[in-house]
Amino acid sequence: MADLTSFFNPKSIAVIGASKSPEKIGNVVVKNILSSGYNGEVFPINPKEREINGLPCYPTIDSVPKPVELAVISVPSSMVLDVAKACGTSGVNNLVVITAGFKETGKEGLGLEKKLASICRQYQMQMLGPNCVGFMDTHTPINASFATGFPLKGEIAFISQSGAMVVSILDWSFSAGLGFSKFVSLGNKAILNEAHFIEHAADDPNTKVILCYIEDVENGTLFLDTARRASREKPVIILKSGTSQAGARAASSHTGALAGSDLAYEAAFLQSGVIRARSMPELFDLAIAFANQPIPRGDRVAIITNSGGPGIVATDNIESKNLKMARFRKETIRQLGNFLPGESNIYNPVDVLGDAKADRYRFALEKVMADPGVDSTIVLLCPGGVTEPAETAKAMIEIRKKHLDKPLIAAYMGGEQIAEGAKILASARIPCFTFPEPAILAISGMVRYARFRNLPEGEALPLYDHIDKKTVKLTIDQVKAEKRLVLLGSEAAKLVNAYGIPAANTILATQPEEAADVADQLGYPVILKVASPKIMHKTDVGGVKSGLFSYEEVRRGFIEIMENIQRYMPRVAVYGIEVQKMMPRGTELIIGMTRDIHFGPLIAFGLGGIYVNLIKDVSFRLAHGLSLREIKKLISETKAYTLLRGYRGEQAADMEAIAEVIGRFSKLVTDFPEITEVDINPVFVYNKGVSAVDVKITVS
Ligand code: COA
Repeated sequence: MADLTSFFNPKSIAVIGASKSPEKIGNVVVKNILSSGYNGEVFPINPKEREINGLPCYPTIDSVPKPVELAVISVPSSMVLDVAKACGTSGVNNLVVITAGFKETGKEGLGLEKKLASICRQYQMQMLGPNCVGFMDTHTPINASFATGFPLKGEIAFISQSGAMVVSILDWSFSAGLGFSKFVSLGNKAILNEAHFIEHAADDPNTKVILCYIEDVENGTLFLDTARRASREKPVIILKSGTSQAGARAASSHTGALAGSDLAYEAAFLQSGVIRARSMPELFDLAIAFANQPIPRGDRVAIITNSGGPGIVATDNIESKNLKMARFRKETIRQLGNFLPGESNIYNPVDVLGDAKADRYRFALEKVMADPGVDSTIVLLCPGGVTEPAETAKAMIEIRKKHLDKPLIAAYMGGEQIAEGAKILASARIPCFTFPEPAILAISGMVRYARFRNLPEGEALPLYDHIDKKTVKLTIDQVKAEKRLVLLGSEAAKLVNAYGIPAANTILATQPEEAADVADQLGYPVILKVASPKIMHKTDVGGVKSGLFSYEEVRRGFIEIMENIQRYMPRVAVYGIEVQKMMPRGTELIIGMTRDIHFGPLIAFGLGGIYVNLIKDVSFRLAHGLSLREIKKLISETKAYTLLRGYRGEQAADMEAIAEVIGRFSKLVTDFPEITEVDINPVFVYNKGVSAVDVKITVS
């Protein structure tokens, strides 16, 4: 992975396209670098000028007498390639290309961008952009961008695919008093992308929280590996907008139809411990909480309020966010009862009443935070005649010092009357929101993160035995040679069998007597299914006959199916009839796969059968880096899990066998990228073992 140390902390910078005209970006960049307090050398480059902003100006990058570690380019797009090449030959290691007019403009721009990326690779230069605002680092310090202003020093790294978001958030951050370690505008991500900056921020001692706004990921598997590693170090919070194109294409499998457009991202964030924000306010609410508060040890939340309504709203919200209302120990309840007025509620949510001054809040907070059954506390305050928002804030600051390991968040519900108190809290790094919901959302994000970080690394899938790659390859090659995309049932069964997934024995027959002989060989009862890649819903056209117990029934069944197809779909190519041994009925499951363009195979598991799309009891995981623990979690998320554990006295299903089949399935679809979609529906599961009954596979 790229080492970005010299990128964020270069010894020297050249600004190519520096200008004397104050309205030009090249002028703003030079001014920004100088006013940020950057203490390395700065070289403006402009063939027409001798001096810019009091600095000697050079006509070209190769005329600079000293080594340059970073070049910021702001010349028109037609000149960028020549300038980048000159940087490469002059030994510049890092580029920021602000210039627009690349892939965002269409085919021609894309061509230009590819050439620019190839120049960077040729000279081993790291490049941010093109089409970006630049970057800032408050700890270097450096402002290598054309954004107005320089952020307050802080511990949040903000990485954004939208340049506009960078400038707007920067401006807002001053009024919010929020500090940042880094601001990065990713632009078109031709070389450096979100994964490189997340990786760097994970190791950066000045960054405590990694915040991202992305529209897509450049390299799904790199992102997964990087985000997973980074999340173990510090929280990674991402707002992802837009929908993936994978979902836009028509899905030909149940799994594809169930997966939808955003599920791969959802799974990617879940599996890598990323906290997903659903909106801009959520992104920053989470950032404020994570940057200023410790990670809670558990999910038990205490509320202290001076009015009933907001206390109830908060309680409801806590339950809906999978948090728990803390139960106080007897001693806490006794102490609260002794001190607070008789009308107060001494149980959680603690109501200190509308006439509470700071002393009541102080007392309640002290006792509640000291309770070992409390992991986080939220203080709600509504301004009233005798309320003391500022004094209450000071009391919170004082008590918090004794419990630095427990999050404390405030919701001061008001405007002018609470403004001073809110300011006091913010300056002491106690997040203060206007309503309870963002406070609870922040705690719920922190609890989810704590759960992820407390889990040991999931062990990789075992090296399964009986994996026969050769058979899979031969089968797929043969299908491709016949210019088919959909495998016949017998081929699909052979393919999953080759990876140790038990599938019901299926043999193709082309004549009635042959089918009957096959049935004799397999043993009765058998089921017959028409074999045609063009017929997706075989039952609808009379293409299936089940429960056949004799040679004669099979022979006649063959003829009847052929007649039905002739009647309903006369022009469709039929390869014959598949004879399959009928398996005893088990609980019907579905195991499927659809391939996401960014993240690769997305595995589905849930309740199978013909109502799969109606019931929609399916959970998803990405195959990349899938662990056995994740597979078990995937199984346990579904309603099917309740059935599998033995519902209403029934015998429990063979969970180990299901987990192994999902693991083997995940290996199969990872090893063979040409497999685009799979539905194994149903898979019968028994109290011992499983059997894949109907396997549909599509290849590209
Ligand atoms: N080396 C050094 N300097 C050069 C040069 C070269 N090869 N070629 C031109 N220059 C100089 C120009 O002479 C000019 O200096 P001057 O003011 O002294 O004449 C300066 O570089 C800039 O060139 P100019 O042609 O005036 O371009 P510009 O400043 O109007 O526009 C960009 C350049 C990069 C700002 C513009 O092309 C652009 O992409 N704008 C959009 C940026 C953007 O929105 N990015 C994405 C944000 S999300």
